Amino acid sequence: MPVLSVTNLKKRFNLEAGFFARFGRFVYAVNGVSFSIGKNETYGLVGESGCGKTTTARLLVRMYEADSGDIMFRQGDRVLDVKALKGKELKQYREKVKYVFQDPARSLNPRMTIYNVLTSGPRWSGSRRNKKELREEAAATLEEVGLRNSDLERRPAEFSGGQRQRISIARGLLMKPDVLICDEVVSALDVSIQGQILNLLLDIRASRDLSFLFIAHDLKVACYFCDRIGVMYRGELMEEAPAAELYRTGIHPYTELLFSSAARAGKTAGAGGDRSAGTAEAAALRGEAVPAAAEAEGCPFAARCPRADGRCFREHPELLEAGSGHLVRCFKSG
Ligand SMILES: Nc1ncnc2c1ncn2[C@@H]1O[C@H](COP(=O)(O)OP(=O)(O)OP(=O)(O)O)[C@@H](O)[C@H]1O
Ligand code: SF4
Ligand SMILES: [Mg+2]
Repeated sequence: MPVLSVTNLKKRFNLEAGFFARFGRFVYAVNGVSFSIGKNETYGLVGESGCGKTTTARLLVRMYEADSGDIMFRQGDRVLDVKALKGKELKQYREKVKYVFQDPARSLNPRMTIYNVLTSGPRWSGSRRNKKELREEAAATLEEVGLRNSDLERRPAEFSGGQRQRISIARGLLMKPDVLICDEVVSALDVSIQGQILNLLLDIRASRDLSFLFIAHDLKVACYFCDRIGVMYRGELMEEAPAAELYRTGIHPYTELLFSSAARAGKTAGAGGDRSAGTAEAAALRGEAVPAAAEAEGCPFAARCPRADGRCFREHPELLEAGSGHLVRCFKSG
């Protein structure tokens, strides 16, 4: 049974002003997404900028309220309806499903000491831990992410980007969550630092009883780090498969585009250009990804798809099984 599952999750934003106003009044940021994360499993959400990854994560922790759909969380033998949680139960849920923000520079309050950054959540949420216990736990968690006990008294500005990301991860880990949501935790970092943070996450995964939702642009990183991956486009899942299978035989035209653009980017960068050698940003260089501004009539990918025909513009394909544990939303990839 999954630890966390979402079914047909939808969230649209009302946009009466600004750049996206020209597409209509709404942007369908998350448009019927379903997936589940098993115990100790790492599920990856991958896709270009604006496809709805962060919105999905924020719906999961109730930073946004979903328009419709279900979010279920299993804790022991109880299954909680996350959308119905209130007050203390919601606070407890948020301690069990922790969200590590996309941008560590902005998510760490510069005026706080690292001790306060780490513990403000637990203290405000009325944790019964006393001060001494909390301090010991904060120090141990900081050491777990590769920093020192003495760093507790320093402030975020005194740390590098990679170190700040470690602090964000420590903040996520402090309450011993069941699920850690890592939103682009390496994308803002230099490549050499990215590797260090990924290794840290691998260590944490090996030593803790933890499930991950790993959000990334980078297919290579996602295939390396995740057990299963959902490829997202304009608020919908286009393909879902075990990471190794997606890497070998991703079959949706959008997945192919991501891989081939990534390979071209890899060649341009002199990185060899194998299937795994680049990022989804490379696909965005082709420049046509826009958020869904109306409930899609046809296939969301039709305007960019080299294999699209008339049906693709008229009918909306379902996400169907193309093999064991392999789902694809495409009329031509069954
Ligand atoms: N609070 C908001 N108000 C209005 N529109 C929003 C809001 N949050 C997200 N959006 C829009 O919803 C769409 C999905 O955004 P989201 O941040 O979820 O994408 P993303 O996949 O995380 O992108 P990135 O890779 O750039 O982080 C975008 O078009 C975005 O502009
Ligand atoms: S349904 Fe049609 S447009 Fe959509 S991905 Fe498949 S071939 Fe392309
Ligand atoms: Mg995002």
